[in-house]
Amino acid sequence: MSCFRYPVAVRVLAAAAFLSAAGWAVSAHAADAAAGKQVFQQQCAICHADKPGVNKIGPSLFGVVGRHTGSEKGYSYSVANKNANLVWTPENLDKYLDNPQAVVPGTKMPYGGLKNATKRANLIAFLETLK
Ligand code: HEC
Repeated sequence: MSCFRYPVAVRVLAAAAFLSAAGWAVSAHAADAAAGKQVFQQQCAICHADKPGVNKIGPSLFGVVGRHTGSEKGYSYSVANKNANLVWTPENLDKYLDNPQAVVPGTKMPYGGLKNATKRANLIAFLETLK
C-alpha cells in the first residue's frame, strides 16, 4: 500500500500548484486595464465619455466605480436608472454589463450586454482607473 501514497501526494501537490497558477492568471487578467480601454473605446465611447462632466447619449463614466446609480450631475436619467438604488461596485457593474435590463429593468441604455467575462473584467479594471 505504502507505494501508492507517494504518487497520490505528488498529484495533490501538482493539482494545488496548477490551481494557484490558474488563479494567478485570472487575477492578472482582471487587472488588464489597457485591454479594457480598448473595449471601452469600441463598445462604450460612442455613448459615454471617460472625462468628468461630459454627458453624451449616456452619462459620463468618470468616477463611476463606487458611484450611486443615477447620480451624475446634469444627466437626464430614466426613472428606472434614477431609482435603481445601487452602488456601482465592480460586482454590480459585472452583472449590469452582462445584462443591463436584468439589473436595471426599464433602463434606456440601448446595449444588449457584453457576454465575454474576461472582456468585462478588463473593462471594469479600466473603469476603476477613471478617478
Ligand atoms: C448606445 C448608447 C450606449 C452604449 C453603447 C452604452 N451605454 Fe451605458 N448608458 C447609456 C444610456 C442612455 C444610459 C442611461 C440609462 C438610463 O438613464 O436609463 C447609460 C447608463 C450606463 C450606466 C449607469 C450610470 C449611472 O450613473 O447610473 C453605466 C454604468 C453604463 N451605462 C456603462 C456602460 C458601459 C461600460 C458601456 C460599454 C460596454 C456602455 N454603458 C454602453 C447608453 C449607452
